[in-house]
Amino acid sequence: MTVSYANRFQQKDDVAFYEAGEYGAESYASYIWRLQRPVLERLVREFCRTQTGPVRLLDFACGTGRVLAVLEPLVAAAEGVDISENMAALARAKCPRAQLRVGDVLTHPELLPNRYDLITAFRFLLNVEPELRQQILKRLRQVLRPEGRLLVNVHGNSRSLRHPAIVWRRRRARGAKTGPMLNEMSPAETKILLRACGFQIVRQFGFGVLPPTLYRTPLRGVAQAVDRGLAGDHWWKDGSIDLLFECRPA
Ligand SMILES: C[S@@+](CC[C@H](N)C(=O)[O-])C[C@H]1O[C@@H](n2cnc3c(N)ncnc32)[C@H](O)[C@@H]1O
Repeated sequence: MTVSYANRFQQKDDVAFYEAGEYGAESYASYIWRLQRPVLERLVREFCRTQTGPVRLLDFACGTGRVLAVLEPLVAAAEGVDISENMAALARAKCPRAQLRVGDVLTHPELLPNRYDLITAFRFLLNVEPELRQQILKRLRQVLRPEGRLLVNVHGNSRSLRHPAIVWRRRRARGAKTGPMLNEMSPAETKILLRACGFQIVRQFGFGVLPPTLYRTPLRGVAQAVDRGLAGDHWWKDGSIDLLFECRPA
């Protein structure tokens, strides 16, 4: 039985793994986040400087509050929403000022009670069921102010050097009932999706170029240096594993 994405992070064990394993101190994901975080902070600071009024942020699918905890101090008001109570419980502990809500925004409109200047959605789009991607992006579009920004990432680019490893892992996982999530989207697919949901891409950034497997070899230091050099708004961004898009309403 395939687990729906809404159920993927409901159990405490899965939450604990996300927090301490996926985002353990030495993990690949943590290293990419160390590259992405300053870019995200800069984008939010720049945006806040252009605004005359207080900035209200929504972190959609906020999970454990990894992103929200970093952005909360930069904005006047912050909210997070997630479908997993156990994920949100960690976010509550890390984000004392943010209002956190739990539930399905498609069936419970009251979970998004405001209009937002900034909406972030990290590590959500790639793995949610394709039929929900559009519905949720369109719902986020409805609550984004006309001058607002959506900052959304796709953490599995099918046009990156990680692709062959994903193909290999998919083959090995064939027939297994459960396993790792091995989804991918290309930059072109993501752009089409965002446009279809009423967003115009303002800027694109990329993080992580070399295959993550290298991080588990003696070449880890070299891989880190290359990925550090090619992080952000770089010529290689369409080939990066983790794609970050800054969008405004079209
Ligand atoms: C991989 S985690 C990412 C958490 C956080 N954004 C981050 O980057 O660390 C994906 C999150 O999406 C949440 N999620 C899945 N389906 C959802 C839905 N339909 N509405 C809101 N959150 C959802 C999960 O509960 C989980 O917390």
